[in-house]
Amino acid sequence: MKFNVLFLAFLASLSLFEASVEALSKPLFINCGSNSSITVDGRRWTGDSIPGQNFTLSSVGVAAAASTISEDLAIYGSLYQTARIFNTSASFNFAVVPGNYFIRLHYCPFNFGNFIASGSSFDLLANNLKLLSKFSAPGEIDWKNAISNSSISTLFREFSLSVNLTELRIEFIPEPGSFAFVNALEVIPVVDKLFPSSSGMETMYRLNVGGRKIEPSEDRALWRNWNSDEQFMFSVNAAHSISNTSSVTYSSVNDTDVFAPLLVYETARTMTDNQVVERRFNVSWRFPVDPNFDYLIRLHFSELVYDKPNQRIFRIYINNKTAAENFDVFVRAGGKNKAYHEDYVTAISPKVDSLWLQLGPDSLASGSGGDALLNGVEIFKLSRNGILAHSHQRIRATQSSRVAQKPSQKTLWAAAAAFAFGLMVVGLSVYVGLLHRRNKTPPEKKNPESTKNAVTMKTSFNSKNKNRVGRRFTMAEIKIATRNFDEALVIGTGGFGKVYRGEINEGVTVAIKRADKQSEQGVREFETEIEMLSKLRHRHLVSMIGFCDEQGEMVLVYEYMANGTLRSHLVGGDRPSLTWRQRVGTCIGAARGLHYLHTGSERGIIHRDVKSTNILLDEDFVAKVADFGLSRDGPAVDQTHVSTAVKGSFGYLDPEYFRRLQLTEKSDLFSFGVVLLEVVCARPVIDTTLPNGQINLAEWALRQRPVERIVDPRLKEEGYSPESVEKFVEIAEKCLADEGKNRPTMGEVLWQLENVLRLYEAHVQSGVEANYCGGDWSRSLEEKSGRKR
Ligand SMILES: *[C@@H]1O[C@H](CO)[C@@H](O)[C@H](O)[C@H]1NC(C)=O
Ligand SMILES: *[C@@H]1O[C@H](CO)[C@@H](O)[C@H](O)[C@H]1NC(C)=O
Ligand SMILES: *[C@@H]1O[C@H](CO)[C@@H](O)[C@H](O)[C@H]1NC(C)=O
Ligand SMILES: *[C@@H]1O[C@H](CO)[C@@H](O)[C@H](O)[C@H]1NC(C)=O
Ligand SMILES: *[C@@H]1O[C@H](CO)[C@@H](O)[C@H](O)[C@H]1NC(C)=O
Ligand SMILES: *[C@@H]1O[C@H](CO)[C@@H](O)[C@H](O)[C@H]1NC(C)=O
Ligand SMILES: *[C@@H]1O[C@H](CO)[C@@H](O)[C@H](O)[C@H]1NC(C)=O
Ligand SMILES: *[C@@H]1O[C@H](CO)[C@@H](O)[C@H](O)[C@H]1NC(C)=O
Ligand SMILES: *[C@@H]1O[C@H](CO)[C@@H](O)[C@H](O)[C@H]1NC(C)=O
Repeated sequence: MKFNVLFLAFLASLSLFEASVEALSKPLFINCGSNSSITVDGRRWTGDSIPGQNFTLSSVGVAAAASTISEDLAIYGSLYQTARIFNTSASFNFAVVPGNYFIRLHYCPFNFGNFIASGSSFDLLANNLKLLSKFSAPGEIDWKNAISNSSISTLFREFSLSVNLTELRIEFIPEPGSFAFVNALEVIPVVDKLFPSSSGMETMYRLNVGGRKIEPSEDRALWRNWNSDEQFMFSVNAAHSISNTSSVTYSSVNDTDVFAPLLVYETARTMTDNQVVERRFNVSWRFPVDPNFDYLIRLHFSELVYDKPNQRIFRIYINNKTAAENFDVFVRAGGKNKAYHEDYVTAISPKVDSLWLQLGPDSLASGSGGDALLNGVEIFKLSRNGILAHSHQRIRATQSSRVAQKPSQKTLWAAAAAFAFGLMVVGLSVYVGLLHRRNKTPPEKKNPESTKNAVTMKTSFNSKNKNRVGRRFTMAEIKIATRNFDEALVIGTGGFGKVYRGEINEGVTVAIKRADKQSEQGVREFETEIEMLSKLRHRHLVSMIGFCDEQGEMVLVYEYMANGTLRSHLVGGDRPSLTWRQRVGTCIGAARGLHYLHTGSERGIIHRDVKSTNILLDEDFVAKVADFGLSRDGPAVDQTHVSTAVKGSFGYLDPEYFRRLQLTEKSDLFSFGVVLLEVVCARPVIDTTLPNGQINLAEWALRQRPVERIVDPRLKEEGYSPESVEKFVEIAEKCLADEGKNRPTMGEVLWQLENVLRLYEAHVQSGVEANYCGGDWSRSLEEKSGRKR
């Protein structure tokens, strides 16, 4: 593309630029090489030749302009008609308040007399941080394509800088015999909380995932450019776009359009819903990057479809390493249509030139159907040793000198920050700390230092809060939700305090647990529960939506479980009895949840209080394990048990744990065995009104044969199959083995329970006449035809 030269002007007087300046407190947009100010994309761009500016130029250089500019350049055409050219070192100097700034430089290749844009070559520095090295504006590239396909890196460059002085100096240093130029320049003060403290960063990519390009004029806070993500997708067919353009809001006053405009959150990509094939694949994006730098990856999320937790749980991989697992946007953002973002940092080694971002199913949370979601992504290159510039020469030299070295730079350290709704104190630098350090191949040499560096590089939070996930409610919100703790809303009580039914977000029903202030144990258990629920996410575990710890109170907000506790359907009689299929299904669900607890993390987690009142049923009778106040991390790899004081509930306590004070996950198996018996017999685990020998359910039930003698009479009416009940009680018996080592694992129990269900289904399908035990015909026929549909 050629530009017709219109004029060439040398500014005679430097004095124009020597006026006293005021510290920059507002964004400054500069139309370089021009004596007129113009309005483009809703902003006023001040001509830099106009006297009385709030900046100075150390040398005027050459103000140059072209008469015609291609229409291809759309609205920016008029801005790019002029440029300032320097054939000696020169700088723009701004008086600033120390803080963070965005610097954007616009380049449009410009042929002017002796100055041919493609012949430019220069270094660019901002307060001595090298931003560009031997930069040369590409000459013959197709600019139309570049702007519509908007490679951020070609048409304009964006840097963010933390300035600790009262001066910002943007310096152009041409290579000998060459020159530097710039068409337009933006300097924008940025609130501190936008970025973790970093001496300098360059924006590599900023994408509105699943949506259209967002123009700077639509990003009212910081005039950013958000491109479409499609060209970076590895396989576009793996994902499809969704949107909700009316209801998205920021989660809190602290999460505002400074982070991203709502337009970004209103569209997303999810995994393609292929009804036939299970969603066992990743949605992947590949980004070309400069080797040998660290990158900050900011992911923007908003759940646009589901209005409850556990519907979409996924894993995030960055450069093929797990950066986050059990990711449930609904929970992290505190609801549907809430804007939320999270940061990760990764190192790119000298031989790698691309960054992979992948979202995929979380195998352990398979109940969620394995879907994933992403609304926006930003990738920033972090400065290293005062340099942001990527010089090919330098990298090649570095590479060859490192040939002998093993590529052991595999460690991904992903630091995640949750800025959304001020969950964590938002300070100058806001890293939650190291989340994961996964290394599939064991490193030759253990290097705890590298982990530590990742954490110490960023200021971490108050450690008590650092692992908390979920929405932080104010006491005022909790009081509104529970009508000031109205007794009529109490749905449960315990040693810890009371549980209320409440309403948040205009109509979402939740369960609200308030710790009894008198109970010190209660408060401790709440802390444990918040910590546990923050790291656990599973279809069969009750999810925490948030918490409130204001005014000396501890309050937890959970998803509401419409069908109450398992116990309430067995004894007590305030809820309808469950069918045999429902009972077995409930046990399978609870076993899945516990199996996940035991195996989902490296050390596993021991629930320690498995009982029928801690297994809850949602409106669809999906069972979820609740109450993690007593839970403990399992034994470390080199240990067999955790030593601890005995805690738990009478009637469910593992006798071995009681005797030896040694806790293993097998203690949960014992308690679960008791629950299984409760499910069959529907009697209290401890009934002191009964004669000796019958008081304790576990002791009594196992001595009773045949099992028909102990079966809940209501089941006999409803219908069951003796074979499946027999098998079921057998599982309970194995769980109740006196020594933990003789008890099965939760995984084995789960498998056996699924067999019980199959036995029962087979029974219902085939032998209705022959084997049917009591119950009414119509129901079993209904079930039969139901299955065929
Ligand atoms: C601005 O530059 C144009 C082009 O050289 C010139 O015609 C015009 O007089 C200048 N205006 C001022 C106010 O200097
Ligand atoms: C210089 O900065 C001050 C304070 O921000 C502002 O009021 C003034 O208009 C600026 N001057 C120019 C020429 O932009
Ligand atoms: C810079 O450009 C001007 C105008 O073309 C020229 O007069 C001057 O000699 C150049 N200086 C250098 C160092 O090339
Ligand atoms: C983006 O630009 C590159 C070259 O500049 C071109 O090959 C590619 O087709 C463009 N992509 C789109 C989607 O326009
Ligand atoms: C400003 O930052 C630079 C680079 O981070 C550092 O070398 C310098 O000591 C800092 N100056 C002050 C006054 O803090
Ligand atoms: C957007 O979300 C709101 C609130 O959940 C919902 O009422 C509305 O139907 C959604 N719109 C679309 C198009 O999904
Ligand atoms: C998704 O990507 C990660 C990292 O590259 C990989 O380990 C995993 O196997 C992939 N999952 C699927 C289902 O392809
Ligand atoms: C990461 O995964 C992608 C896609 O699965 C693959 O193409 C790439 O080579 C992998 N990178 C590394 C370093 O293994
Ligand atoms: C917002 O940030 C301020 C200052 O960092 C903090 O005091 C306040 O508690 C935050 N608000 C919320 C709702 O998190």
